[in-house]
Amino acid sequence: MDVGKPIENAVDMRVNIAGVEWKNPVTTASGTFGSGEEFSEFVDLNRLGAVTTKGVANIPWAGNPTPRIAETYGGMMNAIGLQNPGIDLFCERDIPLLRQYDTKIIVNVCGKSEEDYCEVVERLAGEDVDMLEINISCPNVKEGGIAFGQDPKAAEHITKAVKKYAGQPVIMKLSPNVTSIPEMAKAVEAGGADAVSLINTLTGMKIDVHRRRFVLANKTGGVSGPAIHPIAVRMVYEAAHAVKLPIIGMGGIASAEDAVEMILAGADAVSVGTVNFHNPAVTEEIVEGIAAYMRTYGFARVADMVGIV
Ligand SMILES: Cc1cc2nc3c(=O)[nH]c(=O)nc-3n(C[C@H](O)[C@H](O)[C@H](O)COP(=O)(O)O)c2cc1C
Repeated sequence: MDVGKPIENAVDMRVNIAGVEWKNPVTTASGTFGSGEEFSEFVDLNRLGAVTTKGVANIPWAGNPTPRIAETYGGMMNAIGLQNPGIDLFCERDIPLLRQYDTKIIVNVCGKSEEDYCEVVERLAGEDVDMLEINISCPNVKEGGIAFGQDPKAAEHITKAVKKYAGQPVIMKLSPNVTSIPEMAKAVEAGGADAVSLINTLTGMKIDVHRRRFVLANKTGGVSGPAIHPIAVRMVYEAAHAVKLPIIGMGGIASAEDAVEMILAGADAVSVGTVNFHNPAVTEEIVEGIAAYMRTYGFARVADMVGIV
């Protein structure tokens, strides 16, 4: 008996996201998995479908003043403000580290203006990475970011702009802080997006009642973790019914059951975020758990489960 065989070999876990084949549908949510390499002590990165990097801009960003994270019931709040080393150091240091592993690399891109985004995307066109995820949904930076993610016309426009420079398939990352997810998903589809991912964090606020002060220096922050999961499932379901694009679902996924729920709602793949801070080995456990679910319920391929509810 081949006892060393990984359980997912018994079922076909491969997924095709905009022409890129992942070995399974599990990736990491941007900003919650360091550069990827930092987690290699806890997770065999070769076992993940893809690693999604933290956001990178054209130049280094210092991020917001501290305190910039806080715990909440069933999750956390952050106002990191997209601190990053800038594209030059990222290409030199982070890409070669991740390339040691047999997994797809998705680079998350942030910017304050259309030019910023396009500069990073153009620079990445010549790099050995597999997909780009364009963050137009960060609630914690004052200019850019969310300005593109809350207005359908602006979202369509920025999608068209980055597509002109992109050398890899483009995933547009949507914000939940909008009135209509279907409208935003349709806008990026009209702009030529190759896939969509959702959700980014929900804007929240926390007050320290003993000091009568905001807990975060930024006053507001993005809420993430299990508390937002039902909202994310609803939004993924809505997006899946609005567009034909592949969908990467995220928001509060903490277990294989949560991941399967997202897939049944219409996600072709899933990203795991906040729960990595609590259990750094969770992504690999989720891969195994999805395989076990498929075996239990007789699903031969992941695609057979997508959006069936
Ligand atoms: C500390 C922290 C940093 C994040 N940084 C980024 C980022 O750089 N780019 C981005 O697109 N999303 C970022 N996010 C959002 C996550 O990728 C994800 O969309 C969100 O947290 C919901 O998933 P979760 O509930 O599983 O964490 C960040 C979230 C957290 C908690």
